[in-house]
Amino acid sequence: MQNGTLWTDRDGLPLHAHGGWILQYEDTYYWYGEDRRDRFYVSCYMSRNLKDWTFRNHILTMDSPMQPYRVRTKLQLKREDGGKVNLERPKVIWNRKTGKFVLWAHFENGNDYTEAAAAVATCDTPDGDFTYHGHFNPYGYMSRDCTLFQDEDGTAYFISAARDNADMHVYRLSEDYMNVDALVNRLWQGEYREAPAVTKIGDTYYMLTSFCTGWAPNQGKYAVSDSMEGRWSSLKDIGDVTTYHSQPAFILQRDGKVLYFGDRWGGGGEKYFTSGYVVYPLTEKNGELTMQCTEEALL
Ligand code: DGJ
Repeated sequence: MQNGTLWTDRDGLPLHAHGGWILQYEDTYYWYGEDRRDRFYVSCYMSRNLKDWTFRNHILTMDSPMQPYRVRTKLQLKREDGGKVNLERPKVIWNRKTGKFVLWAHFENGNDYTEAAAAVATCDTPDGDFTYHGHFNPYGYMSRDCTLFQDEDGTAYFISAARDNADMHVYRLSEDYMNVDALVNRLWQGEYREAPAVTKIGDTYYMLTSFCTGWAPNQGKYAVSDSMEGRWSSLKDIGDVTTYHSQPAFILQRDGKVLYFGDRWGGGGEKYFTSGYVVYPLTEKNGELTMQCTEEALL
């Protein structure tokens, strides 16, 4: 797979899983991401080797089932005029205690970017039809570009850009992953970071982010911490001034390799559908992270 291009699935069709996420469950990888075609919001593909991807399902669409839960949310998957809302950067983790696959994403109302909310959906299987539980503003805060991080002990975190993107918030999730439990960090106030992606190498946590320049790529930065809830370092550059023409989607570790997955956005409007993917290896040495730009995705 050539970096920067729109990859295809095993049927030779474009793989639409942008701003996405890979979940490893049992012996299978599930790639979730934005699919803005037709009535779709989130699509899911599966693979055993990270190279050959089989389309599984449009797991969240305008017609998905909706179900309230104990948190007060807005159950809305369409605009009032019947048009689409926006569901961006979907991430899915599996909750060992409830057996549920829990999806978090960034919700906007389809007219503008003022809603800035977190959306939650669940399913009993990784690639089934997800049930939408609505969106809300955690503790009243704006919540835009987001990611999830699940620690080895099962504690999970929702990380999202707050205050018109000025600050990056880290929320610890409740045990069932259905709500935020505590706002544990407010990072890099006024530095306007987007597209967070977290990984843990040894006992150290790393968070990559981009700056806010719409669809245009910019200088990636990362920070280091010895605890998700503790003190994070200041931001250090990674990659070049365009993060090798990409924006972070997520980080996946496999066979000792740390793989950065990024989007190479085509742009807004119709150009969005030409958006491609990159995978660049990350190397950690003495707490420093470096990114290697390669022509091919070394999967
Ligand atoms: C940057 C964000 O990271 C993307 O997910 C998308 O929302 C674009 N902005 C839209 O301009």
